[in-house]
Amino acid sequence: AGRAEAGSDRFPFTPIAAQTDGTVHVPEGYSWEVLARWGDPLFSDAPAFDNATGGAAAGSDRIFGENTDGMELFSIGNHQVIAVNHEYANRDVNLPQREGGVPEHADDVTKLQNLQGVAVFEVAKGDAGWEVVIDSPFNRRITHLTPIRISGPAAGHEMLRTEADPEGKLALGTFNNCGAGRTPWGTFLTCEENFNGYFGASDEAHEMPEDFKRYGISHDGWGYDYHKHDARFDVVATPNEPRRAGYVVEIDPADPNSVPVKRTGLGRFKHENAAVVLAADGRVVVYMGDDERGEFLYKFVSDGVYAPGADTEALLDEGTLYAARFLDDGRGEWLPLTEETTGMTKAEIAILTRMAGSNAGATTMDRPEWVAVNPNAVEAYCALTNNKNRGIKPNAGGDETPVGGPNPRAENNYGQIVRWRPDADDHAALGFDWDLYVMAGNPDVHEDARKGSENVHTGNLFNAPDGMMFDSTGLLWIQTDGKDNNEGDFAGMGNNQMLVGDPVTGRIERFLTGPYGAEVTGLAWSADRRTMFVGIQHPDAPFPDGEGRLPRSAVIAVWRDDGAMVG
Ligand code: FEO
Ligand code: CA
Ligand code: CA
Ligand code: CA
Repeated sequence: AGRAEAGSDRFPFTPIAAQTDGTVHVPEGYSWEVLARWGDPLFSDAPAFDNATGGAAAGSDRIFGENTDGMELFSIGNHQVIAVNHEYANRDVNLPQREGGVPEHADDVTKLQNLQGVAVFEVAKGDAGWEVVIDSPFNRRITHLTPIRISGPAAGHEMLRTEADPEGKLALGTFNNCGAGRTPWGTFLTCEENFNGYFGASDEAHEMPEDFKRYGISHDGWGYDYHKHDARFDVVATPNEPRRAGYVVEIDPADPNSVPVKRTGLGRFKHENAAVVLAADGRVVVYMGDDERGEFLYKFVSDGVYAPGADTEALLDEGTLYAARFLDDGRGEWLPLTEETTGMTKAEIAILTRMAGSNAGATTMDRPEWVAVNPNAVEAYCALTNNKNRGIKPNAGGDETPVGGPNPRAENNYGQIVRWRPDADDHAALGFDWDLYVMAGNPDVHEDARKGSENVHTGNLFNAPDGMMFDSTGLLWIQTDGKDNNEGDFAGMGNNQMLVGDPVTGRIERFLTGPYGAEVTGLAWSADRRTMFVGIQHPDAPFPDGEGRLPRSAVIAVWRDDGAMVG
């Protein structure tokens, strides 16, 4: 059977089988190639990639960074410009010559700081396929060292002031850039997630403030050891620095000299992505997950309305944050985070947003990852990736995590996707109806709730939904970041993958599989929608260069051999 017969018009491909090997697979009739991998030059003066060392510190801000994540493509005049996150650093891969990947001196730390953040670069399709346009005037790296303006209700607050920045209005760096978003006015939103891991304390007896515990800031950090070589990351020397991270950052991809802006009005937590949609009256609505077991789902609604061509500076600064409360009967409500509901000032709500959500009584969730807004219906979807603590332990801040509502399974190690339809077809509405689009599971292994929902079957098994994007036709692309050992509870699921789901019928089919060890995350389309760009993050396989080479996170291009559109 040909591709056209294999599926309905909505699924113009033959779904592929689960895979366990070290490369990428796509359906018959589709092809892929690497667009950019960690270490590829963005500028002609960049150093060549060195497989023995992962490259020197010098010039490490002139190359494509590591661990590609959230991604958007912008059409700027005749140019196609991709903005993509470089979420974190695999130290053992980035510093292969150091025992355990532990930085030995400040140069090692500088290199790690440069390999993360954001890359902006032009792409073009030539005779050799898609390529980065080296030295394009749009090309830019934003790193852990780039000046970033702080705006919104927290700007200038005493909790954000440091010796280097006594006004609390100019930070250095954007951190752990995970998912992304785009605004109607053509800017990129990059979302700071596990920023806590970069900080540590030079004194093991140093007493951490209460809010550091809720945000996971610890004496040892997560092994980056920045604090041992750069006092800005030592909370003894620079106690407010961690409060200057954990925001959504706005970047103008059309102006490589623009200063990115931390939009504190969107709150401070472990931001996954930022899904932007306009309310019925033109106000800007931003849906955002906080990816931690037992944390919350948020939305922001601007005070002002978006008008094409009008000034947008205040739209992400002035507005109201809400956290979601889900009821068991399929209803839910957005709880405004205000002085009345939280007992906190507007600046405190922007900086200590998790506590504000707790004070308002929001529902603890199974790790909210990406939110995606359906272009064909007034509804939004959030991937709740998994939560081994559900029903077992409270979250890090002490909120209980009872089983119920959209988090229906204890010790949930498969994940689910919740969706909600706002009242009156208006994303600014306070009430909504919700249901579960899919509960991942394994019907070949389990007969209880762990078997998953009806739309899960032997041919589309997956766990840990994470990245999600709707295409222009209203299909939901689902990317996974789960267990890929392919055994026990996870038998038959294979490597992490990208599936496509029909929101109307619930049908879900597997489209792409990644190399072992990798997560598939980040998705964007070329201007003509005949190519999709897909991120392959943290492979364990020696992808894409082959045996004996370091694994290199990469953005790949995927297209249909007959040149038809792919979303
Ligand atoms: Fe960076 Fe929650 O994924
Ligand atoms: Ca993610
Ligand atoms: Ca994840
Ligand atoms: Ca990841």
